Amino acid sequence: MDVDPSVPIAGEPMAETAAWWLAARAEMDGLGAGAGLNIAHECVDRHAGDPLSANRVALRAVSRAGRRTDMTYAELAASTSRFANLLGELGVAPGDSLFTLLGRVPDLYVSVLGGLKALVVVSPLFAAFGPEPIRQRLELGDARVLVTTEALYRRRIEPIRHELSTLRHVLLSGPVRDLPRGTMRLDEALSGAAPTHTIAPTRPDHPSFIHFTSGTTGTPKGALHVHEAVVAHHATAVFSLDLRASDTYWCTADPGWVTGTSYGIVGPLSVGATVIVDDAGFDPVRWYGLIAEEKIDVWYTAPTALRMLMRAGPEVAAAHDLTSLRHVASVGEPLNAEVVRWGADALGVEIHDTWWQTETGSIMVHNPPDVAVVPGSMGVAIPGVEIGVVREGEGEHSQPSLSGPAEGQLAIRTPWPSMFRDYVGDHQRYESCFADGWYLSGDLVQRDESDRLWFVGRADDVIKSAGHLVGPFEVESVLIEHPAVAEAAVIGVPDPVAGERIKAFVVLNAGHARSDQLLMDLMALARRRLGPAVAPRQITVVDDLPHTRSGKVMRRLLKARETGEAEGDLSTLEPPSGGDRD
Ligand code: WT7
Repeated sequence: MDVDPSVPIAGEPMAETAAWWLAARAEMDGLGAGAGLNIAHECVDRHAGDPLSANRVALRAVSRAGRRTDMTYAELAASTSRFANLLGELGVAPGDSLFTLLGRVPDLYVSVLGGLKALVVVSPLFAAFGPEPIRQRLELGDARVLVTTEALYRRRIEPIRHELSTLRHVLLSGPVRDLPRGTMRLDEALSGAAPTHTIAPTRPDHPSFIHFTSGTTGTPKGALHVHEAVVAHHATAVFSLDLRASDTYWCTADPGWVTGTSYGIVGPLSVGATVIVDDAGFDPVRWYGLIAEEKIDVWYTAPTALRMLMRAGPEVAAAHDLTSLRHVASVGEPLNAEVVRWGADALGVEIHDTWWQTETGSIMVHNPPDVAVVPGSMGVAIPGVEIGVVREGEGEHSQPSLSGPAEGQLAIRTPWPSMFRDYVGDHQRYESCFADGWYLSGDLVQRDESDRLWFVGRADDVIKSAGHLVGPFEVESVLIEHPAVAEAAVIGVPDPVAGERIKAFVVLNAGHARSDQLLMDLMALARRRLGPAVAPRQITVVDDLPHTRSGKVMRRLLKARETGEAEGDLSTLEPPSGGDRD
């Protein structure tokens, strides 16, 4: 996989647009003169080679029972080198792609960073995905190597392995009871590999990660990132998240989502901090306990989790000593002003909202650490990034408005170091995200007189549930596989905790009647194929779905009806073919 040089990038050379990026770049020692920039070098070997940080804990995995497993920067350097050497021995070449399907265990971090050392393109997948999202992503990314566990392999991969034509090597992390054919034990393979590795010269624009994200139509989009992104991760970890080498840091996101990689691995390790690795999932008492026991200084989490903590009640927070928290930040969905006010009280610190996307790679909008938070606002553009607002109705080629009150689509002037460089296998779709040197985010915002940005909504039908983007098309495609279903439409309906809840409307084929059994079957099909994070929570049978005259389902109208909002412009609505709505 290589970067297409024809990408529509305009403007100044990267990393020279902002003084703070230059400062971040200057802190990195690169790979020696002229040998480029490699994320794993900046995150691991640079600290391992410095006597002041070599023995600092890089990763601290905390088990459900509270048992700690520490890995210092020196130890992480050795294991990632072993991993990189192992890839070489297996004949895996720079540019090949490596996927992980693992919980948040140390082997995940070793595989990701070891893969980057070998110049392999890494894609961490969320272990709670069902077989359908997994298959699509492995296929789209031409997976050559997969690191997973025996149980996940048996359940998710073995049944589809014959369809994965590019997959050559499967490495199993953790204990293996009965080694499946065509797999290897990761621990054995690593112990046979040498613990030192010289990273080959890495061009800053060499591909690093593929992060999948969902669109309104078609298959998931694989956003391709490059090694230069580490400059932005480092700069924002320091200046947006207020992170220092002496800090203990916890990012609650899974590396299967971009937050869990950019700020669960790259940003904090580039700073040289100690990263808490927690695989146990949400539980208010455990979470507060972890902050108290590990003395977390900086915490990056998401609104859904914060709302769940808020619901757990003030006494749960009050029972723990949270005074170690110096900086708390949030990302992924709108952060209600109410939650910010709760945080000031319950956590003792303000919660700093940040805005960015899989495509932007790093934080683009923030509430700076040293400025009082305005609850409900996403904040201002980070230094070095220019945000514009494209007002609705303005011509395609009009320039975005640069300051002062405005409402419209959030746009970012290209380029910036962590900008995605392609959608794998869909360059046309990538190009359609840009106009006149601006990247169009698909988010609608309001900007006030102080140039603060306020989230308004998405310009498309993509659903945001518990911080995860879900493409309605992916869910609809699975529902219509059921013989009783003629047509399906999937929307997000407001939910006080998850932001949005996934709801499906289905039209049945002739000869099929609505029944509780059928609804249960559909629900089971969706959960089995899509996994719990993507399956709808509610399915409703309707006689008809609203269509545009060109035949597209008007999800927006379904949503407006659901929420009692104004139905908006119905000029393209096709009159219903008869029958009452459910
Ligand atoms: C979408 C991107 C990279 C962060 C994790 C999600 C929504 C993100 C905020 C915020 C309101 C937000 C947007 C954006 N979003 N941050 N602070 N307030 N909405 O990455 O999965 O690519 O999702 O998340 O709609 O477009 P993602």
